[in-house]
Amino acid sequence: MTTNPLPSDKALVPFVSVDHMMQLIHHIGIEPMLCGLADYIEADFKRWQLFDKTPRVASHSAEGVIELMPTSDGEVYGFKYVNGHPKNTAEGLQTVTAFGLLANVGNGYPVLLSEMTLLTALRTAATSALVARTLAPQNARTMAMIGNGAQSEFQSLAMKAICGVREIRLYDTDPKATQKCATNLAGLGLSVTPCTSAQEAILGAQIITTCTADKQYATILSDNMIGAGVHINAIGGDCPGKTELAAAILHRADIFVEYPEQTRIEGEIQQLDPAHPVTEIWQVLTGQAKGRTSDKQITLFDSVGFAIEDFSALRYVRDQLETTRLFHPLDLLADPDDPRDLFGMLQRAI
Ligand SMILES: NC(=O)c1ccc[n+]([C@@H]2O[C@H](COP(=O)([O-])OP(=O)(O)OC[C@H]3O[C@@H](n4cnc5c(N)ncnc54)[C@H](O)[C@@H]3O)[C@@H](O)[C@H]2O)c1
Repeated sequence: MTTNPLPSDKALVPFVSVDHMMQLIHHIGIEPMLCGLADYIEADFKRWQLFDKTPRVASHSAEGVIELMPTSDGEVYGFKYVNGHPKNTAEGLQTVTAFGLLANVGNGYPVLLSEMTLLTALRTAATSALVARTLAPQNARTMAMIGNGAQSEFQSLAMKAICGVREIRLYDTDPKATQKCATNLAGLGLSVTPCTSAQEAILGAQIITTCTADKQYATILSDNMIGAGVHINAIGGDCPGKTELAAAILHRADIFVEYPEQTRIEGEIQQLDPAHPVTEIWQVLTGQAKGRTSDKQITLFDSVGFAIEDFSALRYVRDQLETTRLFHPLDLLADPDDPRDLFGMLQRAI
C-alpha cells in the first residue's frame, strides 16, 4: 500500500471549530470579545461604500429558511451560511445555526473556515449594542429582553458591556426559557428580573429588545405599550411574513436599518409602503445622518442581520489566530504538484 504525502501548506485552510470558538471566547472574555467585535463592525460600517452589497439569497420552505450572505471589500471575500427554523427547538435542534468563510480576492483561495452559530449570536449582540449606543437615550440602564432563547444572554451582555445597561427585565411565552436565561445571567453583573408579560417587562425600560422566533406575523409589542423616548432593538422580524411589531409603532418611530434593499424584504418595514423613509445606520456612524435628536423620539433599529457584520466577525476571528493558534489546519484544497494535473494527483493516490 502506498502512503499518500501529507497535504502541502497550500492545501490547508485554518478551521475554527465550535470547540475552538468556545476556547477563544473564554480566552478573550465574552464582554471584551463583544466590544472587539463591535469595533470591527463599526470600522467596516464606516467604509460601507467599499463593499459589494446584495440582499441575502434566501431559500424558503414551510418550516424555515436557509440563507447565503456574501460580501467583499475588494481584498477579502466572505460569506455565511445560516438557517432559521423556529420549530427546531421543540425537536432538540437550534433555531439558528451557521458557518462562514473568508477568501483572498486575489486568487480566490479560502483563508478561514469557521463555525458561526456562536459567532452569529456574538455579532448580532455586538451590532445591537453598537446601534443602541448611538440611538438609545444616554441614561439607558434598563433593557426589556422579550424572547429568552439562544440569543438573549448575548444581547444582554453586549448591552451591559457596550451601553452600560445594568438591569434586564426578561419575558418569554415559555417560562422555562426565562428561567434558563435568568440562571445563565446570574453573577454576571446584571440585575435580572423575570416578568410574566411583555407589558410588565417593558416597565421602566429605556431599551426594548424583541428577539422571538415565529414563522408568521406576530405582535410582540402593540402600539399602546410604547411610550415616548425609548429605543427598540427589533431582532426577530427577519424574514418575509415574520415580524414582531404592530405597524402603528413603525409610524411613530424613526427607523434605522442596515441595508434597506434587504430590510424592506425581511424587516419590520415590510409592513410599510416601500417609499417609507428609513435611515441607514452606517450614515449615522459616519456623521452623515442624524441619530437620536430628542428625548421624546422613539428610535427603532429594524435589525435583520447583514453580510458585512459577518464579514467583520470573521475578520476579527482571523486576526486572533496567529496569537491563539485556536484552529485546525483543514485539508480543504486540492494541491497537485502540477496545477493542471488534478487527475494525476488522484491516480497517484491509489
Ligand atoms: N437580526 C439578526 O441579525 C438576527 C440574528 C440572529 C437571530 N435572529 C432572529 O432572532 C430570533 C430569535 O433567535 P434565537 O436563536 O434566540 O431563537 P430561539 O428559538 O432560541 O428563541 C426564541 C424565543 O422566543 C420565544 N417566543 C416565541 N414567541 C414569543 C412571543 N410571542 N413572546 C415572547 N417570546 C416568544 C420562544 O419561546 C423562544 O424562547 C429568531 O427569529 C432569529 O431568526 C436575528
